[in-house]
Amino acid sequence: MKEMNINAAQQGLHGEIRIPGDKSVSHRSIIFSSLGSTPVHITNFLHAQDCLSTAACFRALGADIEFASDTELTVKGHGMHGLHEPQTILDAGNSGTTLRLMTGLMAAQPFLTTFTGDASLHRRPMGRVIKPLTQMGAEIYGRENNTKLPLTIVPVGEGLHGITYQSPVASAQVKSAILLAGLYAHGTTTVVEPFVSRDHTERMLKAFGVDVKREGTAVSVDPVEKLTAPAEIEVPGDISSAAYWLVAGSIIPGSEIVLRNVGMNPTRTGIIDVLQAMGADLTIENERTSGGEPAADIRVRAAKLHGTSFGAEIMPRLIDEIPIIAVAALFADGETVITGAGELRVKETDRLQAVVDEYNKIAPGSVEGSADGLVIRGGCALQTAECHTYDDHRMAMSLAVLGTAAKGVSLDNGACVNISYPVFYDTLARLQH
Ligand code: S3P
Repeated sequence: MKEMNINAAQQGLHGEIRIPGDKSVSHRSIIFSSLGSTPVHITNFLHAQDCLSTAACFRALGADIEFASDTELTVKGHGMHGLHEPQTILDAGNSGTTLRLMTGLMAAQPFLTTFTGDASLHRRPMGRVIKPLTQMGAEIYGRENNTKLPLTIVPVGEGLHGITYQSPVASAQVKSAILLAGLYAHGTTTVVEPFVSRDHTERMLKAFGVDVKREGTAVSVDPVEKLTAPAEIEVPGDISSAAYWLVAGSIIPGSEIVLRNVGMNPTRTGIIDVLQAMGADLTIENERTSGGEPAADIRVRAAKLHGTSFGAEIMPRLIDEIPIIAVAALFADGETVITGAGELRVKETDRLQAVVDEYNKIAPGSVEGSADGLVIRGGCALQTAECHTYDDHRMAMSLAVLGTAAKGVSLDNGACVNISYPVFYDTLARLQH
């Protein structure tokens, strides 16, 4: 593990950056293209460990995947029924999206698949996808009473049948796993969520010619014979990666940063609503559509922030941004109260606990945790500290922004940013010159 030292900023952050491709859309671009039968040219793909795990799994299943550069590739599948039995155990690495979406897809295949992953993925709950897939007729075995990796998915002769599933969690991974299985099931498959989670799967299914029906928080698909692949998929920039610069630019005095090509899918823009409610100075420019997804450029200037409160309803729209929003809250006047965030306990690490433990090293007495949220007191005294990342990319990047805005920080495993944002530290350095 490589230690990473982050210095305090000597001045505001300045410059223009192009936001790397969206992680969720990059995964889905490979998954759906592998089920088509014509080549799909994918641009602005996120060249990061998680998406490369998905590419490796689909290669093992027989999809033709050729990279022309880090961010540009062509994927050619052999049709919806053209995947073949992998000769090895499939390794999803650190990626919950790879594992959960593929579990849904593999449950419908006429061959056996076994999945593994890294230590973090072995701790994450898989019962949330195994339970509904089992109701659809799938046969899936895993550790701890069929709830944890490693998992083996056994073919079922009679095939799957559609269900209406009331999901207890608003999770795009759960929803997508069920919809992928539903493409192969007999009858209609419907997922009802407590709140609408990110809808990239629904958008991409439509781009592949599938009739997806939405009614409130319910989404349905009928079985299809084939997917009609588009010739091109342009992946929009990842707002979850832009989030670090939205906050860094807001809290480091004198900053002005232009973020080019930020995905602005309304199921993902909760951080913009929250930062604006906190008084952030964000200008949204050049709004357009990129690969069936809204996108824009965002100019962020430093501003005095104030505390805010938000809860379960907005959570799916900013689920991955809580650690960096908590950094913004440390620099705001007054208190920020976050509730309805219990899902953070089952991400790459328990992010609520990690925020409490690590941010209090830098701003002692500033953060209190609850069962499903955080209370953050802004304006506490700041000091330098040695922090754990828990090998969690979003903790590492949030702590790096916090250290830059405070008095520096050293991170035990800085390299885990490679999961979603390999050029993160280079960009941080560039914005300081
Ligand atoms: C993702 C969905 C979210 C998110 C993850 C990516 C996706 O997880 O946290 O980073 O691509 O579907 P949940 O759906 O489990 O909340």
